Amino acid sequence: MAPPPPSRSERTLDTILSNASEGARESLRLLAEILGNEPSSALSPTTFAIQHLGGGVLELASSRVATQGTSLALLGNLLRIEMERHAGAVVIGSPGEGLPPTWSQLTVGPDERVSVPGRLIVFFPAGTLAAIPLCVHIDDRHWTREFAVLSTLAQKPAAEAVVRSFTARLKTAENPLRGRVLEASCVENSLHLGVTSTPASRRESLILPAPLWAEIDIFLASATSRRDLMRRLGLGTNRGLLIAGPPGVGKTHLVRIIAAELSGQFTTILADAHAMRHQIAELYSEAETFGPTLVVLDDIDLVLGHRDANGDNGALADFLATLDGVLERKDILTIATTNDPKSLDPAAQRASRFDVVITLPLPDEDSRERILKGYLAPLDLPFDFPAVARALEGATGSDVLEVVRRTVLEHGETFTQAQLLDVAATGRWQATVNRRRYL
Ligand SMILES: Nc1ncnc2c1ncn2[C@@H]1O[C@H](COP(=O)(O)OP(=O)(O)O)[C@@H](O)[C@H]1O
Ligand SMILES: [Mg+2]
Repeated sequence: MAPPPPSRSERTLDTILSNASEGARESLRLLAEILGNEPSSALSPTTFAIQHLGGGVLELASSRVATQGTSLALLGNLLRIEMERHAGAVVIGSPGEGLPPTWSQLTVGPDERVSVPGRLIVFFPAGTLAAIPLCVHIDDRHWTREFAVLSTLAQKPAAEAVVRSFTARLKTAENPLRGRVLEASCVENSLHLGVTSTPASRRESLILPAPLWAEIDIFLASATSRRDLMRRLGLGTNRGLLIAGPPGVGKTHLVRIIAAELSGQFTTILADAHAMRHQIAELYSEAETFGPTLVVLDDIDLVLGHRDANGDNGALADFLATLDGVLERKDILTIATTNDPKSLDPAAQRASRFDVVITLPLPDEDSRERILKGYLAPLDLPFDFPAVARALEGATGSDVLEVVRRTVLEHGETFTQAQLLDVAATGRWQATVNRRRYL
C-alpha cells in the first residue's frame, strides 16, 4: 500500500519532488530549465551564501572586482566555464527579489555569441573552485555591476586569491576577445565593446617616406621586441603615438596597418567619437583587463578642438586627466590621429605626453607616382606615370585614389592618360558635400 500523502505542513520542496511522478518531475525539470536553471530558492544572495557557507551575516566576507560592462561579461564567461566544469556539484541561486537566475549574451565574433551568467549566485563546494567553499555573485545591471566572491571572514584571503585568478585569466587565451579588434561605442550611456573584423591592410598599400616607417618601427619596438629589455634597464617604454597631418594623407590607413600587424599579440580597441568624448576613463579601465592593448583614438581633434562659448573644453580637461594617468599604465599603447595639430592645445600635447609625434606629409611627386601605380598597375595602361604624378601636384593619397576611382567609373578599364588628367583637372572626382571635411 502506498504511504499516506504528507500533511500540508510537511510539504517541503524535497517531499513534493520525491512524491511526484516521473512525468511530473520531468516537467518540473524542464520548467526549471526554461526559467534559467535548476530549481532555485528565492533567497537573497546573502541568505543563500550564509546557508551554504555557514556562519552568520557578520562572518560573511565579499571580495569584489571593480569592473566595466564588457570585462564583467568576460568574467561571467569564466564563471560559466567553472560552472560547467563542476556541473554536478554547484548550486545556482536566485539573484534576489525572488527572481530566477538570468543569462546574457556575450558577442565573441562577428556572428558568434555565448551565453554567460548575467544575474545569479553560485555555490562552489570545497574542492571545486578552490579548496574552501565559496559563492560567486554576479550582477550585470549597469547601475549595480558586481562580481564578488563570497566566503567566511576567516577565509577571505583565499577568496581574494580566487578573485585575482579570475582577473588574471582575462589576460590569457581564456578571454575570447583577447587579441581581437574591438569597437568602443556608447550604448545607453555605458561603454560597449563590439568585436569587429581585423583589418587586412599591409604596409605595401601605404606609400610613406622611409624615415617615417623607421620612426613607427622604433615606437612599436618599445611595446614589442624591445619591451622587456627597456623595462629591465629601467628605461621606460613608449606609451603614446600621435599621428598628425591634413585629411587624406593616410593616417587612418596607417593605424589600420599597425592594428593588423599587432593583432593576436595585442587587443585593439577603436574608440568612436562618442566613446572618446564621454567614456574615455571607462575605456582605459576596460583596456586594462585585456593584457597588451592598443587603444586607437582616430580624429582626436573632433573631441579636443571643440570649445564652448566660454572657451571651456570639458572634454579636453577630462581627456588630459585621463591620458595623464593611463599613459603610465602597463601594456596599454595609445595611437591618436589628428587632422589639425594646431587644434590641439599646446598644453594638451605637453600634458598628454605622447612620446612620439609624427606628421604625415603630402606625398611628393615620387610618392604620388608610386600611389598611382599601386592603383593602376592591374590595368596595365601605357601611361607616362611621372608626368601624371607631376600634374597631380598638391594631391593627397586619398585625392589620387579618388581621381582613379572617378576615371574608372566614367571610362571602365581602358582610358587614356588625357582622360585621366581631364578628370583630375576638372575636379569632378571631389565630392561636393563634405569636401575635406569630417562628419
Ligand atoms: N600615402 C598613401 N599611400 C597610399 N594610399 C593612400 C595614401 N594616403 C592616402 N591613401 C589612400 O586614401 C585613403 C584615405 O586615407 P585615410 O587614411 O582615410 O586618410 P586620413 O585618415 O589621413 O584622412 C586610404 O585608405 C588610402 O587608400
Ligand atoms: Mg582619418
